[in-house]
Amino acid sequence: MGSLSNIVAVAAVVAALVAGGSCSPPNVPPGPNITTKYDGKWLAARATWYGEPTGSGPADNGGACGIKDVHLPPYSGMISCGNEPIFKDGKGCGSCYEIKCKAPEECSNKPVVVFITDMNYEHISSYHFDLSGKAFGAMAKPGLNDKLIHRGIIDMEFRRVRCKYPPGQKIWFHVEKFSNPNYLAVLVKFVADDGDIVQMDLKEKASPEWRPMKQSWGAIWRMDSAKPLKGPFSIRLTSESGKKLVATDVIPANFIENAVYKSNIQF
Ligand SMILES: *[C@@H]1O[C@H](CO)[C@@H](O)[C@H](O)[C@H]1NC(C)=O
Repeated sequence: MGSLSNIVAVAAVVAALVAGGSCSPPNVPPGPNITTKYDGKWLAARATWYGEPTGSGPADNGGACGIKDVHLPPYSGMISCGNEPIFKDGKGCGSCYEIKCKAPEECSNKPVVVFITDMNYEHISSYHFDLSGKAFGAMAKPGLNDKLIHRGIIDMEFRRVRCKYPPGQKIWFHVEKFSNPNYLAVLVKFVADDGDIVQMDLKEKASPEWRPMKQSWGAIWRMDSAKPLKGPFSIRLTSESGKKLVATDVIPANFIENAVYKSNIQF
């Protein structure tokens, strides 16, 4: 593309933004990453929804985080896709946000909490929440969920909050399908406080050494090993703000693939 057409293209984008038009703004770059500041400040975003109007999003496919059964408690369908600064290449999986809307008139302006379980990289605004129908409707005044949902796309506000789970809910590890002694892939869920995990390390019972796992995708971390891994395995978690926790011997030596192992730890 020649420089003149570049300038014309940029001018067109600027004109569209200045007009603040009724059309979706073209290709808005993502905002800065949302971190664990918890400063209480509300930021502007746009909200859309997917799946069924009253639904929890796709119940069983696990989304880009790999977290299944999001229609069940404790998520109960209160879930959202985040764009780049929220999803953070999967490091944002499990993080929590308060969301609310002021307009249109169906909006209650009362915050509700959603969990990030998926990604959405359409560039319609710096921050974008593509919510389950249930979560989108939950921003409405009582009885007006359905009316709000029919707006399709609205402006909203959000802020990062610490994740809270029902009392007694500990962190769970799901040993992913196809795991074996040379390939152990583990999904982490129900992480309170920051909600998201930025590092997972593994220790074999007989070894003094913690070895870093690699983020596979979403909330799934993996260890590949030419030498067969020998359990039981302990897992060390590092949350986004740097806190560490160890789940001792949480995965047994005779683990099976596609199985849940519940820890007794929680942030
Ligand atoms: C945002 O987070 C992602 C995922 O952790 C990271 O790769 C990227 O460098 C971060 N961006 C900034 C500007 O910090």
